[in-house]
Amino acid sequence: MGNALEGKVAVITGGASGIGQATAVRFAEEGADIVVGDLAPADETLRMVEKAGRRGIQLRTDTTSSDDCDALVAAAVSEFGKVDVGVASAGIATAAGPSNVQTRAAGERATHVVNIATETFQRVLDVNVVGVMQTDRALARQMLEQGTGGSIINIASSAARIPLAGAAPYCVSKAGVWMLTKVMGLELAETGVRVNAVGPGYTATPMIAGIEDNRPAYEMAMSITPMNRLGRPEEIAATCLFLASDESSFMTGQLLHPAGGQFTG
Ligand SMILES: NC(=O)c1ccc[n+]([C@@H]2O[C@H](COP(=O)([O-])OP(=O)(O)OC[C@H]3O[C@@H](n4cnc5c(N)ncnc54)[C@H](O)[C@@H]3O)[C@@H](O)[C@H]2O)c1
Repeated sequence: MGNALEGKVAVITGGASGIGQATAVRFAEEGADIVVGDLAPADETLRMVEKAGRRGIQLRTDTTSSDDCDALVAAAVSEFGKVDVGVASAGIATAAGPSNVQTRAAGERATHVVNIATETFQRVLDVNVVGVMQTDRALARQMLEQGTGGSIINIASSAARIPLAGAAPYCVSKAGVWMLTKVMGLELAETGVRVNAVGPGYTATPMIAGIEDNRPAYEMAMSITPMNRLGRPEEIAATCLFLASDESSFMTGQLLHPAGGQFTG
């Protein structure tokens, strides 16, 4: 497509699926070599990266493990010599079971705070906040050691700003990612390492699979989406590309929303 990331190396957690996969492919199309860290196999992503003419490797990574996050960055350095860009896309909607958009639409109160178990809350925070922090920390340490600057992109959500009944763990976790992004952006502002976040609206990925066939869930989602459609993972990847590239060189600590018109009012 272009050469916005020519010669760069990008580490992408959650790159086996959805937004992370689309971002890996787009980055490869723009000239980057790709390192995917995911619990799930990323063979399909790597095939697409290679089809785009770039090299890719994967390392099975659980981002809730600090050692795994460090090993992922070490693997990138060992294979490609450096890390320029990191995307923390690994995330979960709920501790288990269907995504919260579906349970909320069904009018269920089981996921309201008064009814949830501490472990359920904790699990989502472990993956979505601690996992992102550990990913960012490993990336930032490497970028600082290189002294070359870099761009770290955290995948938050529009749920960082919108309180959704029945989705407290997810909303709190994404608000946490937003604040983590602001604090890290500030802490690293003078180093050349930029930290930004992307807050997608409802996006057609496995995370919300089947939503279009679930009338109440889809209508609820569209009621807060002025464009009245789901986003495509490629549209989220395009925002990541902007933040990864030098086109956003004067931007850090920010949250951008490819979200179909949410937050216009
Ligand atoms: N799809 C949406 O509507 C939407 C909207 C806003 C934000 N998001 C966020 O986008 C990010 C990507 O989600 P997606 O929609 O592509 O979902 P997805 O389920 O398609 O992809 C998530 C990936 O993360 C991986 N993963 C989960 N836990 C992990 C862990 N502990 N360690 C390593 N990998 C792990 C999964 O294996 C999967 O490959 C998530 O952070 C999600 O919260 C999604």
